[in-house]
Amino acid sequence: MSREAQRHLVLIGLMGAGKSTVGELCAQQLDRPFVDTDRVVEANTGRSVAEIFTSGGEATFRSLEHDAVADACASPQPLVISCGGGAVLDPENRAQMRATGVVVWLRASPSSLAARVQHNLPDRPLLASTGAEQELERLTELRTPAYEGAAHIVVDTDGRTVADTVDAVLAEVERCTV
Ligand code: S3P
Repeated sequence: MSREAQRHLVLIGLMGAGKSTVGELCAQQLDRPFVDTDRVVEANTGRSVAEIFTSGGEATFRSLEHDAVADACASPQPLVISCGGGAVLDPENRAQMRATGVVVWLRASPSSLAARVQHNLPDRPLLASTGAEQELERLTELRTPAYEGAAHIVVDTDGRTVADTVDAVLAEVERCTV
């Protein structure tokens, strides 16, 4: 087994990048468990991400997310981990991801991201108050350094089908020598 096979496959990127969809399919192909940190936070608290933002604010969510990232990264079994879009803002999260995983940034333009999140805006509290595309442009500018700092690999998803993206991720991970 290659060294990469022992590491988690960690997917990062903005809301709408396709982390959950692509992650689940990668997990099937690699025959690994799939972990989505948003779903872990929801399972641990019995509340939706939107409810946590409303009742405790973003800081409460980030703390719960930090624990979910740490737990997933600590798994002795190699996983496919989809991280919420803001998980990379925490330097400890970035360090954990890079230490235990091959980190893949699913990159997309703000307009592609906006088109993909249209159908479930209520689940995304950060996009609720302003125009989604405008906010995704702002977040792209703000977070690009954190995604760059966390990622071993960048996969551009604009103009790619989900299946193409999965193939690209798996091919890049196979080639990666971290
Ligand atoms: C967030 C992204 C969301 C979720 C929360 C905050 C962000 O996850 O963690 O709403 O800060 O970008 P997805 O990227 O899976 O939508």
